[in-house]
Amino acid sequence: MSGPVRRIEVPAFAKLNLTLKVLHKRADNYHELRTVFQTISLHDTIEVEFRESNQRSIALESTVEIPGNIVLRAAELILDEMGSGAEIRFRLTKRIPMGGGLGGGSTNAAAVLLALPKLARRPVHPDRLLQIAAILGSDVPFFLSGGTALGLSRGEELYPFPEPAQSYGLLITPGIHVSTPEAYRALQREASSGDLHRAIPGFQAMGWIAGGCMPAANWGGFCQNDFEPVVIARYPELGEMRQKLMRQGAGVARMSGSGSSLFGFFGSEAQAAAALAEWPADQARLFHTVSRVEYESAWSQAFAG
Ligand code: C5P
Repeated sequence: MSGPVRRIEVPAFAKLNLTLKVLHKRADNYHELRTVFQTISLHDTIEVEFRESNQRSIALESTVEIPGNIVLRAAELILDEMGSGAEIRFRLTKRIPMGGGLGGGSTNAAAVLLALPKLARRPVHPDRLLQIAAILGSDVPFFLSGGTALGLSRGEELYPFPEPAQSYGLLITPGIHVSTPEAYRALQREASSGDLHRAIPGFQAMGWIAGGCMPAANWGGFCQNDFEPVVIARYPELGEMRQKLMRQGAGVARMSGSGSSLFGFFGSEAQAAAALAEWPADQARLFHTVSRVEYESAWSQAFAG
């Protein structure tokens, strides 16, 4: 028995870590984080063709091969949760570089977790969605709601964070694949972080002082990334690119996640566009921040269309 075919095309936005502190190594070998995630306009597009069925078949066509097939694993897990069989075809148009610290695989997985219950008309409770997302990867839960969010624990414990005013920036994707587990190992974090309260006052100040109406270019010294020293030591050209963004007038220039992507926030779209002209076309693009409301409305529009 098969039902009607339902089709949908959804966006899967990239993220930046506006700030990222890696505290101690935990008993489960993950690291305890304090981070602020932010969705940005760069996005992949996923077309889903869905038909309820007694059989389960899942096919994926992608413009770029995705390591570990996180899209298929997400589909399996959410179908298990819904207890439904289905014939599904995914067509993925990739624009977010993989292994760049932009959450390229994680955002695709979250899009699948959001889309399939809607297509199947079998809602899954947000608690369960968050749990399933965390099984797929530490960054996946964030993409269930997007916007600006505080990430604790291994990044999967999330709370809304004061959002910057819409902010414009330049994203640099140098084409260097940084292995996330290796970047964590290079930090050589101990099992205990000592006094946590001494480690994070700057982080707390970001929420109290920087957040809210100011654009991200004014968040300046609040934006940090603990991976930068170790990753830039290995790839000094990333440090030079960050310096170039600063020379161009970026208010903030940082690496995202464990790299290698870098972002610079500028005072206006025009300033970001002027800076873009001085980069090789295949390495740089403009972006703007995507707030939680914009993120939700992109999803509602996809389902209204
Ligand atoms: O959770 P995810 O699969 O994305 O993590 C990839 C790898 O990154 C983990 O296997 C671990 O080595 C490292 N990691 C970590 N601490 C975190 C998140 C990731 O050590 N908070």
